[in-house]
Amino acid sequence: MNLKDQFIKYFVSHGHKEIPSAPLIPENDPTVLFNTAGMQPLIPYLLGKEHPKGKRLCDAQKCVRLTDLDSIGDKTHHTFFEMLGNWSLGDYFKKESIHYSFDFLTNILNIPVERLAVSVFAGNEDIPRDLVSAKIWEEVGIPKERIVYLGVEDNFWIAGDSGPCGGDTEIFYFRSNEEIPREFDPNDERWVEIWNNVFMEYNKDENGKITELASKNVDTGMGLERVVAVLENTDDNYKTSVWKEVIEAIEKVSGKSYLGNEVSMRIIADHIRTSVFISADPAGIKPSNTDQGYILRRLIRRAIRHAKKLGIDTTMNWMEPIALEVIKKYENYYQEIKMNKKVVLDVLNNEGVKFNRTLEKGLKEFDKMLKNINNKVIDKEQAFRLYDTYGFPIELTEEMGREHGLSVDIEGFKEKFRAHQELSRTASKGKFKGGLMGHSEIETKYHTATHLLNAALKQIIGLDVHQKGSNINEERMRFDFSCDHKLTDEEKKQVEELVNTWIKEDLPVKMVTMSKEEAVKSGAEAMFIEKYADVVNVYTIGDVSKEICGGPHVENTGVLGHFKILKEEASSAGVRRIKAVLE
Ligand code: SER
Repeated sequence: MNLKDQFIKYFVSHGHKEIPSAPLIPENDPTVLFNTAGMQPLIPYLLGKEHPKGKRLCDAQKCVRLTDLDSIGDKTHHTFFEMLGNWSLGDYFKKESIHYSFDFLTNILNIPVERLAVSVFAGNEDIPRDLVSAKIWEEVGIPKERIVYLGVEDNFWIAGDSGPCGGDTEIFYFRSNEEIPREFDPNDERWVEIWNNVFMEYNKDENGKITELASKNVDTGMGLERVVAVLENTDDNYKTSVWKEVIEAIEKVSGKSYLGNEVSMRIIADHIRTSVFISADPAGIKPSNTDQGYILRRLIRRAIRHAKKLGIDTTMNWMEPIALEVIKKYENYYQEIKMNKKVVLDVLNNEGVKFNRTLEKGLKEFDKMLKNINNKVIDKEQAFRLYDTYGFPIELTEEMGREHGLSVDIEGFKEKFRAHQELSRTASKGKFKGGLMGHSEIETKYHTATHLLNAALKQIIGLDVHQKGSNINEERMRFDFSCDHKLTDEEKKQVEELVNTWIKEDLPVKMVTMSKEEAVKSGAEAMFIEKYADVVNVYTIGDVSKEICGGPHVENTGVLGHFKILKEEASSAGVRRIKAVLE
């Protein structure tokens, strides 16, 4: 049995209910691009909401972390990974949690106790030192010298800046054939962290104030690929059974062996797997120049460039056999992979074809540029040319530069990028964060149409309609809102007509920056008020709409064209979903 199945089986047999992984792309939270931890979809329940499946849960959650994108190519990093987790929502606490972990590791996975060590929270001015966990560890059989106390940086867990949080205890495994030291030294890299048990008993608010939660919860997370590497006795995750078939497919397509070509093969393997998961997600993400679509584009284009480095003929549909191995591996666990197989293969192939048209010339251009470098910096003109004419994501140019010991004038590039955006009249205000590109013109229009739809629903259906989620791509807009009934044809028609009336009126769209407080006072609509920064942008459209929003938006509604609702359907209990287009 593989680790994932063993884990679920163990916790189910100990009274936990298995829950399906939440989608990789959070449904109702536009402030984050991807799910980054197993606990993220469970935040409302950790804060006290009752979970329909009860107080003991377990799952394998799909996660993407972009912080490590530049590290991909080494032995241990991945952009996509699965996190195994078990939760207690106000049920058991430290004792059972530690007992379960220890039992699973030593009796199910048969890891010798001699190879284990733990860290517990040393405490700070708000929270006491976790002597309780340390004692439990000793009781189960971890010797004192293998238990260390670490501070907030290491043993306190919170997703982001605020929310449910608490001290944690982390379990380490000694991965080396050398003699195991008697004492645990967390700085000795031969000890690798394999499991994190967070004791979530606090909530941290926006101002950093810590209060106790109504219930004491447990949130644990175990990175699947890392633990498989431990169990299979290798320090290279890409040599494990998780990646075996994928790496073999890359070897076959390239006619080269993994040995000697590790970096490019790892990048290709990782990026294709992540691209499969992003494009299979029900959010319907396609490669684009914004948000998740931009990440998808970056991953595919970087994989293509590394394929070229391996000598693969990238004009062929070379990604397909590799993607098929990924699909085979996961389709029985995640239904969207099975259902959207064709979509996934099309996305990869189409993006491949698109990039290939310019890749070859772009690479030549890059080589030419290398002869005209001043001060070891790729200047803004050069970087922008690669982006604009040859479709090189700026991060790709940076990577290629690094390989030649060069840096890129990123600030200059951004400047040129913004100027270019303004030229094409799509303001990119506030959106150049975290490496994301600005929005395309059509996406900008959909942003504004989303505000109009929100306002129209309020007028036609009722003021208690609130936005629950929104997703935009180049083809359509999607809008989720609270509403207790299926819209009638008449209601749909009225909503459509009202939006189209406002479009015809060519209403001005204006942005004002103000404090969050002022914005709320002025009656601006906001979906996740607690998540916004202290200073926000408020967009008004004529006098029909006022919303806190990052933008970008068109300047006048007249440019939107004709608004049409394609579909209205249930999204989840009490939430309806509208898909619409501008034509
Ligand atoms: N939230 C913790 C983590 O992500 C445990 O699940 O590591």
